[in-house]
Amino acid sequence: MPTPTIGGSRAMTDREAGLIEKIRVLRQKRGAVILAHNYQLGEVQDIADFVGDSLELSQQAARTNAEVIVFCGVHFMAETAAILSPQKVVLLPDLHAGCPMADMITAARLREKKKEHPQAVVVCYVNSSAEVKADSDICCTSANAVTVIESLDAQEILFIPDQYLGHYVSTKTAKKVILWPGFCPTHARITADRVSELKREYPTAKLVVHPECRPEVIALADEVLSTGGMCRYAQRDDVEEMIVGTEMGIIYRLKKENPGKRFIPISEQAICPNMKSITLEKVLWSLEEMQPEVKVPEEIRVRAKEAVDRMLEIGARR
Ligand code: 13P
Ligand code: SF4
Repeated sequence: MPTPTIGGSRAMTDREAGLIEKIRVLRQKRGAVILAHNYQLGEVQDIADFVGDSLELSQQAARTNAEVIVFCGVHFMAETAAILSPQKVVLLPDLHAGCPMADMITAARLREKKKEHPQAVVVCYVNSSAEVKADSDICCTSANAVTVIESLDAQEILFIPDQYLGHYVSTKTAKKVILWPGFCPTHARITADRVSELKREYPTAKLVVHPECRPEVIALADEVLSTGGMCRYAQRDDVEEMIVGTEMGIIYRLKKENPGKRFIPISEQAICPNMKSITLEKVLWSLEEMQPEVKVPEEIRVRAKEAVDRMLEIGARR
């Protein structure tokens, strides 16, 4: 696995230059758009047409005219693009790039839980499989979870699968939020002790954390934001130094877009190995072979799309 790039600018190697040129030519030939999540390796972010958070990427996937989408992210993100655009070819350069949180729930287990709470509306974090989305009422991302819940008439919400995002949302609404015990192993590694240490070391820095963090970490934060929200927040004039409470890959984009500002990673262990498994070599191979393709069976896709569409209609308010 290549060493994750933390800095915002890199000297390009001959290897990279060669790969980038081949990707440029093939991308054009295939009529492909390259979408990359904010946690991707710096060199992958640099070749993307668009870099963003889960919500922004799903919006891009829904609106692009390109026939081929190369998704540099994890499986549920590519699957969401395939749900929205079945006529397009959606490629995930490494089919093993999954999300452990998404694997912490299945449609069968969700159906059991729904029987226990027949009145509850199921709000499904997009970090989930298409089958699980198909059995949910509406999706959300970290950028719009509170807005989605407040948009619903229901007073009882079954929030799946992230218990920490669900807990955070429950502190922002008067509604009853039933939690599922899923979590992100990368964000769970961020501890309140470490955060307190960093706050002492950098007393003037803003502490910004992702809502997938544990509640005791969230309690210490100045802002709780999606990765896209963090990128916008970093551009504010009153932000000079920021402790970044999420996966380290985002530091690359933050530094690139804000030269002169200081970004402090919250933990050297906050790395998502799945996000890091996408490389330039795999992007090129994917464009050459036109695989691995992510497809969703039509019966599941149609039901999952209803849940994703309901979310996209509400739009991002943060
Ligand atoms: P964002 O939608 O905030 O980018 O989060 C996606 C994710 O997987 C965080 O771990
Ligand atoms: Fe899943 Fe966590 Fe990786 Fe995000 S950082 S893709 S939630 S494992």
